[in-house]
Amino acid sequence: MTQATARAYPNIALVKYWGKADEALIIPVAGSMSMTLDDYATTTTVRLDDAADALNLNGTELDHTDSATQRVGAFLDIVRGLAQERGLDTAAAHAQVTTVNEGPTAAGMASSASGFAALAQAASAAYGLDLDTRDLSRLARRGSGSACRSVINRFAVWHAGDSDETSYAEEIAAPDLAMIAVTVASGAKKVSSRAGMRATAATSPFYRAWITTTEESLNEMVRACADADFTRIGEITEAHAMRMHAVINACEPPIRYLAPASYQVFDAVAELRANGVEAYATADAGPNVVVISRPEDAEQIAGALGQYAENGEAKVLRPGPGAHVVNADDAAD
Ligand code: DP6
Repeated sequence: MTQATARAYPNIALVKYWGKADEALIIPVAGSMSMTLDDYATTTTVRLDDAADALNLNGTELDHTDSATQRVGAFLDIVRGLAQERGLDTAAAHAQVTTVNEGPTAAGMASSASGFAALAQAASAAYGLDLDTRDLSRLARRGSGSACRSVINRFAVWHAGDSDETSYAEEIAAPDLAMIAVTVASGAKKVSSRAGMRATAATSPFYRAWITTTEESLNEMVRACADADFTRIGEITEAHAMRMHAVINACEPPIRYLAPASYQVFDAVAELRANGVEAYATADAGPNVVVISRPEDAEQIAGALGQYAENGEAKVLRPGPGAHVVNADDAAD
């Protein structure tokens, strides 16, 4: 196959990934756990080509010096390396990559996760690599750590591991959940996750404690999922999110991803709980807040939180599929 199209969705972590043990291979300092969403898809086509690698992002042809083109090129080098190991005659080919994001890019809706999961799936198919889910997750991880979880259906645990072979995500059974996305600002964030993680490791005095607490939170989360204990899942999620922002806030100079509007949402969620509606909030490396609830409560919660969203509407999301190949004819779906 010389062309393939794949689709993948963002994921939102309930136990967060924040810090690398190995920068080059993207091995995290601790494991993490997430839900793959059913909206904000990235659809990516990889077409093998004799010309240089090229990237078209959301309809714009990017220059080869653009940082996104360079990051995609570096990822394609990894794919070509795998093709070479397998003796495939695609190993020397360049590729035209066309990608469309339905979600807001670089605003904490995990576009790099859906992006590299879709690219890993499309590129591995186009270059003729026949990867199983674990190897596809490992490959996606090389593009962006959290992308290894978007390869997985519904709920994923990323095993931190200590090598390229042992660091991958796999599906975990969890009770059915809804997420309510409250997009308080859709612009690109000021400090990328990558830079923020580096700064945290280098300057935050709480970094060691963060690593330990993340390992503990993941163990507890896995137990709560096995017990289908929604309340415990929610409590761990919200406490863990606040701890991530605390370790980040403690950098020197400080980094602050949450905005006043983000805290308003956390307060509104606490008020919902006080009124007997069980909801818990989390936020990635940006100001947007994602609330988790039981599916039957989601519409009511979205109604209550819409006033905090930039466009006046909070969006209900459900567990979605892992990265998958789609026919070129279906690519516009
Ligand atoms: C806050 O996966 O974007 O969303 O591996 O450097 O590409 P890189 O970082 P990335 O970081 C995601 C951080 C997070 C938490 C999470 O999704 O677990």
